[in-house]
Amino acid sequence: MRHAMAIRRILTAEEPILRERTKRVSNFDSSLHRLLDDMLETMRDAPGVGLAANQIGVPLQVAIIEVDDKITELVNPQIVKGSGEQLDWEGCLSIPGYVAEVMRHDRVTVKARDRHGREFRTRGTELFSRALQHEIDHLNGVLYIDHLESLEELVRVSDAQEEVEEEAAAGI
Ligand code: CO
Repeated sequence: MRHAMAIRRILTAEEPILRERTKRVSNFDSSLHRLLDDMLETMRDAPGVGLAANQIGVPLQVAIIEVDDKITELVNPQIVKGSGEQLDWEGCLSIPGYVAEVMRHDRVTVKARDRHGREFRTRGTELFSRALQHEIDHLNGVLYIDHLESLEELVRVSDAQEEVEEEAAAGI
């Protein structure tokens, strides 16, 4: 039986659960599938290009990314390789209304499991790479503002619109 997907409330940065490390998933069952389905619905509604489970109050190593019409579901993801640097604008659905320039690896390779527990690897560049690093940070209790030297580097989206890439500003 299919269930109706639900839009969950996205927590904002002051919620302690966003600062805690999430737990590994060991059951790849229907409750995990429901969580992933709800995360996709919630991310699209926001709208954003990435979402981590702890952003909707579930402390598990689960994240989802949708870049260039490709959905990537990540369970227990780990960065196995990172190289190069890219500096670009970044936002977060848990820090609405703001963006900042954040230095990230240009390319990463990530090892993860899918919703059925099968292991896979994915490689990313540009925005997809940035989203992979941003979501895996979330699962370790890290927010993009932690990569800034000062919160004064935050820019209001309304002031930055001209120069900020639309997708990244939408939040990951
Ligand atoms: Co985020």
